[in-house]
Amino acid sequence: MSLHSQVVQAFQSHFGAPPALVVRAPGRVNLIGEHTDYNDGFVLPMAIDRAAWIALRPRSDGQVIVHSLDLDQTVGFTLAALRHEDAGWAEYVKGVAWALQKAGHRLTGWEGVLTGNVPRGAGLSSSAAVELATARAFQAVSGFPWQAAAMAQAGQQAENQWVGVNCGIMDQMISAAGQAGHALLIDCRTLEASPAPLPPGVAVVILDTATRRGLVDSAYNERRAQCEAAAAFFAVPALRDVSMERFEAEAGGLDELTRRRARHVVSENARTLAAVQVMAAGDAAALGRLMNASHASLRDDFEVSNHELNVMAACAQAEPGCYGARMTGAGFGGCAVALVDAGQAEAFALNVATAYQQRTALTPAVYVCTASEGASIVA
Ligand code: GLA
Repeated sequence: MSLHSQVVQAFQSHFGAPPALVVRAPGRVNLIGEHTDYNDGFVLPMAIDRAAWIALRPRSDGQVIVHSLDLDQTVGFTLAALRHEDAGWAEYVKGVAWALQKAGHRLTGWEGVLTGNVPRGAGLSSSAAVELATARAFQAVSGFPWQAAAMAQAGQQAENQWVGVNCGIMDQMISAAGQAGHALLIDCRTLEASPAPLPPGVAVVILDTATRRGLVDSAYNERRAQCEAAAAFFAVPALRDVSMERFEAEAGGLDELTRRRARHVVSENARTLAAVQVMAAGDAAALGRLMNASHASLRDDFEVSNHELNVMAACAQAEPGCYGARMTGAGFGGCAVALVDAGQAEAFALNVATAYQQRTALTPAVYVCTASEGASIVA
């Protein structure tokens, strides 16, 4: 049964009537442009065909009641009196309500059932999917216009200020604004997003290492601080403002570690812009080479990969039909992404899984995925 039918059925049995509407918002995989978003830089993610779904109907009493199908838990709160309760997944829903109200929206309450198939903790942005599905739900019942960038910002604020995770804007932007069949070049300074068509005849394959990020928050915050220190050295608002030429001319004045961190960000921004050019030319091989270079930079200069991600990227890169592969997301565990000749994708998936399993004794999850639409009202 599709998730759509499941969530509708679960609503019916939980609330005793059909839902008034169904919304969904996708997870994402980033093709290139990693650890650039909080440097005001460029990212090139695509929304995947795995999403958070909510079936719901409005309530007139200012209450929100959400039943999580996967956890079999129901949580309720009052819009006029939001309180932190450390209620796990429900804090994402509440945090979005808080951010939307802070932005001046008058919210209508609702009751609904939430489910989803974005794996949690795998680096595919399951939390952004829940945030943007929630924003869609509030927008639909409250009747204010849907503005993708503003909704993404509300999702990010929920995560930064309500839940307390210091992420950038990439995951929320792509979940809000994704386009079927396309990746999106996002300028994380202006939040301008432009669709980049995938080269013809390629498949995007997600390779989950089955390792989960530990210590990711502290390491993530440390990387952010190092990037800010480098920007201060160059006397610019963010590393986005440093070109490769300027970096090469002046980076000698930085300590070795900060220099490597900054070199990743500066070179990754250049690779991301180059990726858009080669995509426009339909050049899958060139895009693959940029992805391989991105992985090396994340592994050696930014140091956010782990052993399993390196093994996975190497296994993928060694397979016939693979144009390129790299870790994706924050790092320290989770998923790699590969660009593969569509005709060879099935064999590729099988062979990489076997090779990885032989080298690590871990069982990976492999999915061929398609670029899907951002947060939407389905019915
Ligand atoms: C996580 C964050 C994003 C981004 C990536 C790294 O996914 O949520 O904002 O910083 O890491 O590119």
